Formats: sequence, structure tokens, C-alpha cells
Amino acid sequence: MRELLALLDDPAFLRERDPDGMLETLLGLPEQCREALEHGARIPLPELPLSPAHVVFAGLGGSAVGGDLARLAAGKARLPVLVSRDYTLPPFVGPESLVVLVSYSGNTEETLSAYAEAGERGAARLAVTSGGRLAELAVEDGVPLVRVPGGLPPRSALGYLFLPVLVLLQRLGVFPGGGGLEEIPEVLASLREELGPGKEAKLNPAKELAARLYGKIPVVFGASGTTEPAALRWKTQFNENAKCPAYWNVFPELNHNEVVGFEAPEELLRALYLVFLRDEADHPRVKARQELTERLLAPRVGGSSRFQGRGRTLLGRVLGLIYLGDFASVYLAFLYGVNPKPVAVIDYLKQELARLGEAV
Ligand code: F6R
Repeated sequence: MRELLALLDDPAFLRERDPDGMLETLLGLPEQCREALEHGARIPLPELPLSPAHVVFAGLGGSAVGGDLARLAAGKARLPVLVSRDYTLPPFVGPESLVVLVSYSGNTEETLSAYAEAGERGAARLAVTSGGRLAELAVEDGVPLVRVPGGLPPRSALGYLFLPVLVLLQRLGVFPGGGGLEEIPEVLASLREELGPGKEAKLNPAKELAARLYGKIPVVFGASGTTEPAALRWKTQFNENAKCPAYWNVFPELNHNEVVGFEAPEELLRALYLVFLRDEADHPRVKARQELTERLLAPRVGGSSRFQGRGRTLLGRVLGLIYLGDFASVYLAFLYGVNPKPVAVIDYLKQELARLGEAV
């Protein structure tokens, strides 16, 4: 453990393991979020229905998680907000719907298929992309387009992918209430000091967690309606950055099935590392469940940690947790000796699918 922590404090090691500068990109997230908020405030208001029956965010992977966060931000609005990660949209989508199509590359076939379907069903559409086919189609069809800066891996463009839309929907009054978004860059900037490469490992929770996770399978437990998007994001960042398997679930659901699996043989459970993500807004009974479950499971697995978000708003706290997971996953990639940036298998699957023929 001590050797692993020492490696993460060695600037030469960090430079050598990060040929594509993923740490640099991650360090820029607070500025990205600030720029994204300003972008959202400046975009001319598009013609969109001001009171749709519901909003559906359609996207995949790094482009979909912003939808989960927008859903969280819309929490108090009495407006159903859904995230669809599929070729087809839910059957109720029709002329009363607003469909926000998010694809960083603009070329993800599932999202392009959802775009076409939303058009066929007469739904209002809003496209979010850095370019690609989605941008071309939106321009051709006169669909409002939020164009975001390109050149990043989609999962590194989190701020660009959801904050401008969120501000736009607030300005239009589609998501009433609003406010509170301005704390996001501040929360992230203060965390950056604590989690960044310059902070020594013994005082850096992200480095420490990466060292603890080395050789283990992360299992991340969030809670419905609060830390759920962070738990999913942690899992996908461990997959894509550290190239390791990782799993997630949420309270209270996991108390009704997953917990039973921890009666498995000791040698199996020793490979797992449990992470509990908690928030002050968790339901009081969920808090009780988290306490009980941690007490029950922690002694049976290879290790466990608990983290609580900080900040005035739920969205700020959840983004803070996401930032911690992002750093930990990049540090873990360094410890495993893998480059955090490329996602060769995802690229391979996209190419092979394209070779098999057009989806839409
Ligand atoms: C890669 C990543 C992926 C992509 C996904 C969809 O960094 O995070 O999960 O986000 O394959 O691609 P886009 O975002 O271009 O629609």
C-alpha cells in the first residue's frame, strides 16, 4: 500500500503513465463547468414547447450520464424527466414530448435512431453534440442545436454535455425553480486542491482510494434519487479509465436482493471492495439501511469506504462525488499501467457495427 501511494506522489511516474494528459483534462473540469454555464446563459432561446408533458434525454454512456444529472436537478419540478439509453424511445413519446438528444461525437447510432424516431413521432427535439451526423441532421431539419467544444473523450466532457441544456431549460421555464448551478464550479475547484496530483497521497482521498482498490473489484452503492448518478458514473469510470470490472447498485433496492449474495464463500468476497456513497438528502430510512448494511457487509469483503458529498445543493454534492471517482479511476489506471484515455473495445464495437450496415 505504501509503495502504491508513493508512486502516485511521484510526478515522473504520473507523467509517464498519462501520455494523453487525462489528468490535465480532469483538472480543467471546474473551468469547463463555468464555461458551460456561461454558454447556457448566452445561447439564443430556441423555439421549444414551454410546457412539454415530459422531457426525455436520449444518449449513451458518457453522453447519457448528464441526463441523469439533469433529472436530479429537475427533481423539484413536477415534470417527468427520463433518460433513455436505447435505439427506440418509450412508447408514450409523441407530440407532447421534448426529447433532448445527446451525443458528444454526434455519431452514436442508437442516438441517431432515437433522433429519427422522435421526429417521426412529432416530438420537439433539442440536439446536444460537438458535431458529427447529429449536428448535420439538426441543421438540415432546423432542430435547435447546442454545439459544444469537441476534441475530448465524451466522458471528459460531462460539464459541456448537460450544463448548457440545463441552463437553457431553466431559462425557458421548462425546469422551473432553477438556481444553485453556480456553486458547481466552486465545489469542484475546492475539491481539485484535495484530489489533484499535487496533493500528497496521505492527505488525498482519491489517491488513497486508488491504492486500496488495486487488485480488487469496485462495487459502488448509491441511493435512489440522490447519489444514483454518481454510483453509475464511478462504475463506468473504473471500466473506461482503469479498464477493470466494476459494479453498482442503489439503496433501498439492493437491500432486497444484492445483500444476500454476500453469503458467498470468503475467497470470492475478498475480491470485492465496497464503496458507499452517501448524501445528507438520503431518505432517513435509507440512512438507517446504509448503516446496517455497511456493518453487515464490510467485514466480509476485501475492503470498504464511505464518502459523503459536500456542498449546498444536491447537484453540487453529487458532482463532487463524481469528481472524486473520476480522479480515483485515473489514479487506478496509472497503478495498473494502462493509459486511461483509449477505449479500444468501444471503438471496435462501433466500427464493426458500422461495417455490418446502417442502423437508420
Ligand atoms: C467514451 C465514453 C462512451 C461514449 C459512448 C457514446 O469516453 O464515455 O461511453 O460516451 O460510446 O458516444 P457519444 O458520447 O459520442 O454519443
